[in-house]
Amino acid sequence: MLQTRDVLTTMHAELERVDARVALAATVQLPAVSGLVQEIVRAGGKRLRPLLLLLAGRAYRYDLDRLVTAAAGVELLHTASLIHDDSIDRAGLRRGKPTLNSVLSSGAVILVGDYLFAQSAMLAAATESTRVVAIFASTLGDICDGQLREMFDAHRLDQTRDEYDRRIFGKTASLFAGAAEMGAVIAQAPEPDIAALRRFGSDLGMAFQIVDDVLDVRERTQVLGKPAGQDLRQGTVTLPTMLYAAGLTPRSAAAARLQAVIAGEIEDEDTIAAVLADIRGSGAVEIAMRAADLLVSSAKGHIAAIPDPETRSLLHELADLALDRSS
Ligand code: IPE
Ligand code: IPE
Ligand code: MG
Ligand code: MG
Repeated sequence: MLQTRDVLTTMHAELERVDARVALAATVQLPAVSGLVQEIVRAGGKRLRPLLLLLAGRAYRYDLDRLVTAAAGVELLHTASLIHDDSIDRAGLRRGKPTLNSVLSSGAVILVGDYLFAQSAMLAAATESTRVVAIFASTLGDICDGQLREMFDAHRLDQTRDEYDRRIFGKTASLFAGAAEMGAVIAQAPEPDIAALRRFGSDLGMAFQIVDDVLDVRERTQVLGKPAGQDLRQGTVTLPTMLYAAGLTPRSAAAARLQAVIAGEIEDEDTIAAVLADIRGSGAVEIAMRAADLLVSSAKGHIAAIPDPETRSLLHELADLALDRSS
């Protein structure tokens, strides 16, 4: 019988292989940037996307070498998108380390990110599946779409849940969906199972981003390893903020203050800290977590019919990990 949190232990050896592939592909032959890139890669993230890809293939023809290659490609694509994201968000900390944009020019950061995107595409190509390469390419397009929407939707409070959902699908859930789909495709799962696993990844990814948005409000920088309160600071309206705003009395002092912070008219850290505390005290965090919880249940529902009960239970554990975390 599998114990809770067994998924990381069960998949440990495979994930080590993924890490080795990522480290190799992330080697940059330039002394000025090589150490910096290795540090970000080695600082290690949670490796949720490669885990999802491997598990999506686990119930079928488990071609480990090709799955590991694709999983490394997905992790590197994620890492490259974080490098660009931190540059866009002007964030100084990632995985507890200074970001590339805090030490290199923005031109250099764009190019390092592009270099890693190229390396990740090489890994996708090394699976020798044109379908995997197509998923990879369309996912990269979705990420850019989501990030662009976030940029152009910033600084205004009048946003709908649909706009938010579309944005977080693009920037985050698309890669979870793509990772699950790639794993299932490589393992030659039947088409209905590929579709089910893709839907699982998509709902899980949506929940994951909602939790990320909650953590931005709820946790401290030290715990996150990246700057807390960054969404508010850059005028990004996330689900907790939308829910908090909906509960405010129009034209009240709190509403005016939130409006000014989102618009970027007020940038001082004391005011940002006060708004964060208000959001935390408003019940918005709990409602947002319930939305994430519902998405995780929906994700689990999509894979009810996939063949292997042990794999299903590992996927359920992975889904629970996305919810119950502090970084
Ligand atoms: C951060 O992703 C970016 C988001 C999509 C929220 P992760 O929280 O998975 O980052 P790492 O890889 O664990 O650092
Ligand atoms: C970024 O979302 C998602 C990406 C596509 C990289 P966030 O801006 O919320 O991610 P963090 O909080 O910086 O990790
Ligand atoms: Mg960011
Ligand atoms: Mg975030």
